[in-house]
Amino acid sequence: MRRKLIVGNWKMYGDYASNEALMDALLSGLRDLRNADYAVCVPHPYLFQAQAALKGSNIGWGGQNMSQFTGGAFTGSVAPQMLADFGCQYVIIGHSERRGALHETNPMVAAKFAVAVRMGIKPILCLGETLEEHDAGQAHDVVERQLNAVMNEVGVENLGKGILAYEPVWAIGVGRGARPEQAQSIHAYLRKLVAKKSKDVAKEIRILHGGSVKPSNAAKLLAMPDIDGGLVGGASLDAADFVPICRIAHSF
Ligand code: PGA
Repeated sequence: MRRKLIVGNWKMYGDYASNEALMDALLSGLRDLRNADYAVCVPHPYLFQAQAALKGSNIGWGGQNMSQFTGGAFTGSVAPQMLADFGCQYVIIGHSERRGALHETNPMVAAKFAVAVRMGIKPILCLGETLEEHDAGQAHDVVERQLNAVMNEVGVENLGKGILAYEPVWAIGVGRGARPEQAQSIHAYLRKLVAKKSKDVAKEIRILHGGSVKPSNAAKLLAMPDIDGGLVGGASLDAADFVPICRIAHSF
């Protein structure tokens, strides 16, 4: 049985004071919810704050990106071991906002995934098609290419040390997510692709769903057999939204 996982993706929001208030509210709101896993992925400058606040609790933390290089003259970049230094258990890799506006390619994403696994940080690999690709009926092909770019590079066993997140780009930040059955069909397809390489990894790997996940749609999404949790953007910034989503995950 795969345990549900809810990850908040704060994106480039928050400040020291609001983070402190949010994490306080999460610590008390999630304290007794022991049947699922929870984490927040915060902007790099706040990793120390997240570690100080969440250490020893049932809430994990992580980064939203990192360099594929482990050190060197890369001004402005953050190395994987810096995330490890601040206790990160997770790192989001290949979010569509980075693939799109920031031109991250499949090979870069694969390299980041590989180095995260080497560092003992669980990469959360984001996959998803744009609206144009969706309308052209290419969703399955796009996620297959994105998945294979990583799976072929790192091998299926290493893939299994991470987490997948299917986030249709057209559903991110718009308030209206994919229908649960529509999401389930892509999640099942991804699991089938993994199963072609390893049935065991396919059975174990968690596939999160992202794109306007909120308290009102979380129960139906999480009830789908291949949806193992959520990668939550907007609704992770307010404990009044994030805690109920986590409570739903706990109830499965
Ligand atoms: P959203 O973002 O929940 O605001 O749609 C999800 C994400 O981008 O990870």
